[in-house]
Amino acid sequence: MKVSIILAAGEGSRMKSKKPKVIHEILGKPMLGYVIDAARSSHSDRISIVIGHGKELIQERFENAEVTFRNQPIGEGEPYGTGFAVMQALDDFQDDDTVLILTGDTPLITAETLEGLADYHERGHFACTILTADMNNPTGYGRIVRNDAADIMAIVEEKDASAKEKIIREINSGIFAFQGKALREALGHLNTDNASGELYLTDVVEYFSQQGERIGGFKLCNNLEIHGINSRDALAKATEYMQRRVNAHYMKEGVTMIAPDTIVIEDGVVIGRDTVIYPGAILQGQTVIGEDCTIYGNTRIVDSVIGDDVTIDNAFIESSHVGDHTTVGPYAHLRPKSNVGCHVKIGNFVEVKNANFGDGSKAGHLAYIGDADVGENVNVGCGVVFVNYDGKNKYRSTVADGAFIGSNANLVAPVTVEKNGYIAAGSTITSDVKADQLAVERAPRRDVDGWVSRKGLK
Ligand code: UD1
Ligand code: CA
Repeated sequence: MKVSIILAAGEGSRMKSKKPKVIHEILGKPMLGYVIDAARSSHSDRISIVIGHGKELIQERFENAEVTFRNQPIGEGEPYGTGFAVMQALDDFQDDDTVLILTGDTPLITAETLEGLADYHERGHFACTILTADMNNPTGYGRIVRNDAADIMAIVEEKDASAKEKIIREINSGIFAFQGKALREALGHLNTDNASGELYLTDVVEYFSQQGERIGGFKLCNNLEIHGINSRDALAKATEYMQRRVNAHYMKEGVTMIAPDTIVIEDGVVIGRDTVIYPGAILQGQTVIGEDCTIYGNTRIVDSVIGDDVTIDNAFIESSHVGDHTTVGPYAHLRPKSNVGCHVKIGNFVEVKNANFGDGSKAGHLAYIGDADVGENVNVGCGVVFVNYDGKNKYRSTVADGAFIGSNANLVAPVTVEKNGYIAAGSTITSDVKADQLAVERAPRRDVDGWVSRKGLK
């Protein structure tokens, strides 16, 4: 069996946050989520997460993640350190298991690297294999100490390192593979005799070398994979890198991006081929976008399904559905539960909410379509308001196929406009309009000749 233990009990004080570090998000997903996914994709049979600081928030966030949480006691008089953290998960592995130790704050680690590490470890029959990296600036990391025969002898933490050890460029990534039995035994020999007074997991390496056990070093190709998030600055750098990785994936699958570094796409978004995305677009959540779409800048789409050949310009679309060959925007807002059909036009400054808007219908400018069922080929004029709220309750309106709602009309819900009903501009409609009927609701006009000059206004 392969077991992954992810250490995530630390406070992450340099984030200066109310939240535990590992739930800070990268492209809409908490950083711990990336580590869990990498562990799962590398075929871990079991995943345990050691939590402490902010544990309730972490558990809540990952309640459906199919992982085991282990609680590290935190507080005055409690031991601290990565070794103590692993001890909380002693029940989660057997002697002949391969145990991967991961950290919750290195979200760029890939499943390929973890698989490579586990394979190398198992083939070499090592007690422990360390994922190492050569760093130009190794400051802050534990250094890999080797003897003249290049055998790994120990890991020395920065704080405990001699001047000679500090110049070692090979570092400990904090990620390991262990043989279960060896790990269990070595943890029993840890002590706090070091500069931090902590139970260091890294001390098991020296113990193994003293016992004559085999220790492997598996060197990382891309050092960014172990980029640890300790600060907001490091979080931004990881986000930038992840954004590149994600956008490269979409481009490989046939999506065109103009200035991809400005386009933010969250994990899980699906985009069809030959769709073109312009700078500044943000695509989030469970969004699916079809083929041949054009998405212009400053558009945000959240949890929505967009058909094929749709053009969206500077719009905000949330929890909605947009049919094929439709145009949305510029400056339109589809609020939750908007179901817009095919060949539809939703134009400038139009807001739609909890409404169906049928195929071929148009609302070109400045309209509010809330709580409505609008049929096919309906024309909604400029400035039309579906008056859905009386200050206490919301009501729905129905507009049947072919109806024409003149500019600046108000439809006071609940009201129905039947097929091909026609509402004159400026009308406030409070009762149903029959099929084929014209409804005009206007006060009679009064003309007062010469009024302007009599008043002395001109
Ligand atoms: C650790 C390694 C160091 C390595 C570096 C890589 C040790 C002693 N040192 O140092 O060799 O180069 O990672 O980034 O292991 N944690 C707990 N409980 C604890 C303490 C830590 O769960 O009591 C978790 C933290 O939340 C974090 C991880 O363990 O996810 C690493 O802890 P951290 O304090 O960041 O270790 P480093 O000092 O960076
Ligand atoms: Ca760290």
